[in-house]
Amino acid sequence: MKIAVSGKGGVGKTLVAGALAYFFAKKKFKTIAIDADPSPNLALTLGVPLEQVREIVPISENKPLIELKTGTKFSGVYQLSFTVDDVVRDFSVETPYGVNLIVMGTVKSMGSGCTCPANAVIRALLRHLIVERDEAVVVDMEAGIEHLGRGTAKHVDTMLVVADSVVKSLEIAKRIYELAEDAGIKQIFLVGNKIANEVEGDSIRKFAENNDMLLFHLIPFDEQVLRAETRGETPLRNEQSKAIRSIAELGKKLMQQ
Ligand SMILES: Nc1ncnc2c1ncn2[C@@H]1O[C@H](COP(=O)(O)OP(=O)(O)OP(=O)(O)O)[C@@H](O)[C@H]1O
Ligand SMILES: [Mg+2]
Repeated sequence: MKIAVSGKGGVGKTLVAGALAYFFAKKKFKTIAIDADPSPNLALTLGVPLEQVREIVPISENKPLIELKTGTKFSGVYQLSFTVDDVVRDFSVETPYGVNLIVMGTVKSMGSGCTCPANAVIRALLRHLIVERDEAVVVDMEAGIEHLGRGTAKHVDTMLVVADSVVKSLEIAKRIYELAEDAGIKQIFLVGNKIANEVEGDSIRKFAENNDMLLFHLIPFDEQVLRAETRGETPLRNEQSKAIRSIAELGKKLMQQ
């Protein structure tokens, strides 16, 4: 399974990506989570302590790897395929609850350009990565629609488009949904998040219906998630959390696809 999680800023992409990766790891899937957001924070959600988060070397700073992808010297290398084991061994860091994490990285200083080479590496990784039945790759995308233009997640088999019930986030979700369809992604699912009541659920349902989007799952608003994050703790291990439990249900549904 190769799954990308996208949506407007702040809708809950990182929570969904992190909790899904955690769910698959608990199910004994060999799991890779890719933080493809140039403002990365998936590591914290996956339970990496803050001091260690700061030590993670992102792909954008892995010069040899970037050169492999972009330099003429080694062109062609990315025609080969990777196994999940290769990627885990060569590029990822371990996190406390069994998920292997890859961080794409960030723009280092003002005016230093874009994350294009690192994006290209992630795109190539996703393209050539062969994922077996008991393996899962979950990508936490950059907010908005820009990454679709770069085709970073073109080679996933499932795109989850997360939205809350605010019309602005649903409008962005619609745009992402359409672009993902144009890119030929096989399964595209709308996922509602932070649903606090029936009215919010209904408004997402109606929006999906009116715009030919497949509403796959609704995740409730959960105070406990917010509280954990306010303390700088991972919410993933909280078995009472309605949101985390709901994302596990989402994981089960994805396994049945
Ligand atoms: N179901 C939920 N219930 C309550 N709070 C939630 C829920 N989902 C996410 N949040 C909170 O909303 C905030 C944004 O979530 P998150 O960081 O996952 O969003 P994001 O889409 O990844 O944001 P960004 O675009 O900045 O990367 C966080 O404080 C998170 O704890
Ligand atoms: Mg995020």
